[in-house]
Amino acid sequence: MYGIGITLTQFMLDEQRRYGASGHFTGVLNDIATACKKIASLTSKGALVGVLGSANTENVQGEVQKKMDVITNEIFIEALQNNGNAAALASEEMEEVYNLPENKPRGRYLVLFDPLDGSSNMDINVSVGTIFSILRAPNGVRNPTEKDFLQPGVTQVAAGYCLYGPSTIMALTAGNGVNMFTLDRDCGEFILTRENVQIPADTQEFAINMSNERYWEEPIKRYIKECVAGKDGPRGKNFNMRWVAAMVAEIHRILTRGGIFTYPFDERVRHDSNGGKLRLMYEANPMSFIIEQAGGMAHTGYERIMEIQPTSLHQRIPVIQGSRNEVDLVVSYHRPNDD
Ligand code: F6P
Ligand code: MN
Repeated sequence: MYGIGITLTQFMLDEQRRYGASGHFTGVLNDIATACKKIASLTSKGALVGVLGSANTENVQGEVQKKMDVITNEIFIEALQNNGNAAALASEEMEEVYNLPENKPRGRYLVLFDPLDGSSNMDINVSVGTIFSILRAPNGVRNPTEKDFLQPGVTQVAAGYCLYGPSTIMALTAGNGVNMFTLDRDCGEFILTRENVQIPADTQEFAINMSNERYWEEPIKRYIKECVAGKDGPRGKNFNMRWVAAMVAEIHRILTRGGIFTYPFDERVRHDSNGGKLRLMYEANPMSFIIEQAGGMAHTGYERIMEIQPTSLHQRIPVIQGSRNEVDLVVSYHRPNDD
């Protein structure tokens, strides 16, 4: 326990001392915090600084990029490529691994990020976020390649997100619980505001895009049908539904008051992306690490997300995350012969 009110910098230096972490690790987190502060500033200014709307380009997944997708990606590169903490970068917004310029010093960590999750919310002034995952770089490799990044989620050294909402909040885990820091804009520091966050094991709140129902598999159809049936159905209690359309905001809500978030298997993309919409490396793995560290559960319905061996940088998978007992129930519906 460190004490509510200390700064993220103090927190990281304490961790570094306690666990003998390298200065590079503290440095990477510091670079990420710098990027998030810059993004927080831009999101709060919005139309005043001309950052709303489309960039009229497409990312590797063929999605139209928002201006802020491009700008925030640049902010992350700028923050991470100069200080000798990161070894290489990978982003949802870049097709290939980003190797640092030849004249820059190399650090020990691979950093993966979704620089602006839920970016279409920007134009309607609703919450957006950043998600990041930190992996160890292989020893002695100057310019890591895609295969060096293809590590299962269980090998993550740290992961976190930053939510740009009414306030800006960073949640962080380095495998020793989850802590949350709120950005104090007056002093420019992230301040520890919640320690050792725990997700309630039970919930009566679910988050899913209901408009896709006809493309789901039977286990998810059954689960949601039972939730919607409320106290008159097999669950015997009423459920509430929420959908912010930004994963960071959904996961933050779950860390705050419990719940289940799922972007489940979708028949339309069975063949081209394993039935998934969300990205394993930039979204599912870091969020699974955080959820598990807060006592929750993260699964595809068929396997624990963090144990999946990635096969490509931009791979997608189905995601079911949140309160432990609820995710466990959904997983049980995926087992053959369950009634
Ligand atoms: O990054 C993908 C994402 O924007 C998530 O943040 C969010 O949960 C989801 O897609 C929203 O999906 P939809 O457009 O189906 O509501
Ligand atoms: Mn995203």
